[in-house]
Amino acid sequence: MNETINIIENLKTVRHFSDKKISKEHLSVILESCVNAATASARQTYSIIVVDDKEVMKEIGYIGNITLIFCVDFNRVIDTAEYLGFQYKLRIPITDFITGSTDTLLAAQTAAIAAKSLGIDSFFSNCIHRGNINRIYDLLKLPEKYCFPLTALILGYSDEEKSKITKKGRLSGPGIIHFNTYQSLNSQGLENIVLEYDSQDKHFLSLIDDWREKGYSHYLDYFYEKWCGCPREDEINDHPIKSNHKYNQVKEILIKSGFLSEEN
Ligand SMILES: Cc1cc2nc3c(=O)[nH]c(=O)nc-3n(C[C@H](O)[C@H](O)[C@H](O)COP(=O)(O)O)c2cc1C
Repeated sequence: MNETINIIENLKTVRHFSDKKISKEHLSVILESCVNAATASARQTYSIIVVDDKEVMKEIGYIGNITLIFCVDFNRVIDTAEYLGFQYKLRIPITDFITGSTDTLLAAQTAAIAAKSLGIDSFFSNCIHRGNINRIYDLLKLPEKYCFPLTALILGYSDEEKSKITKKGRLSGPGIIHFNTYQSLNSQGLENIVLEYDSQDKHFLSLIDDWREKGYSHYLDYFYEKWCGCPREDEINDHPIKSNHKYNQVKEILIKSGFLSEEN
């Protein structure tokens, strides 16, 4: 195995960080590296807000040493066009949003890998989409139009004392990888997935308590029932699926920012 593969395989979510600061040099390396990710038409339709104020981090959701907020952002492209006397319009806003999100996430994951290569841990969060999303626009002075905070990458040095070191789990076989054409899983394939999630040497959601101690036969029973709040098929009429109110502002903000129309 080479060093790059080793770094990627050792990526894991760290939620507790020590007080050790990330140096300016290391931060620059992370930022300069992440913009090397592929980007559609070399537009780099994102902005990265570097947050080092702990109070602001607290308002955002989680405290690390530095938080990077990766935003899909077309403002620089629009403003530069205008500066040159052009009018740049998003042609199909939802398509531009998807392409912009792809650019943004490629840069974000590249930042996480670059950080890990420097011994800096990280964790991604969608905390920015929970509750009042306008708080993120206000705190970071984001433009209202054509800018959407997509993900937060919290960086720092792992606090080994508090961090529950768990071996992470990922699926990598049938159901995830499809050669040439898409292959739906049959019941044997689905059973294999259920068993893979149960495997003792894997740990799929490092955050949760032991599902076995809670009396569940499978990790996925715990996941669907407790984590996702899914009703069983025979209970659907008694417990209709509820929308997740924590995230109910996302559509409204996407409309306000110009990426989605009312009809979508
Ligand atoms: C888009 C995204 C959002 C996430 N949001 C949160 C979050 O808000 N809180 C949290 O504790 N972990 C969050 N995580 C981290 C995942 O829970 C974590 O990746 C998962 O538990 C697997 O752990 P591992 O990365 O160590 O394998 C998020 C990860 C992603 C990719």
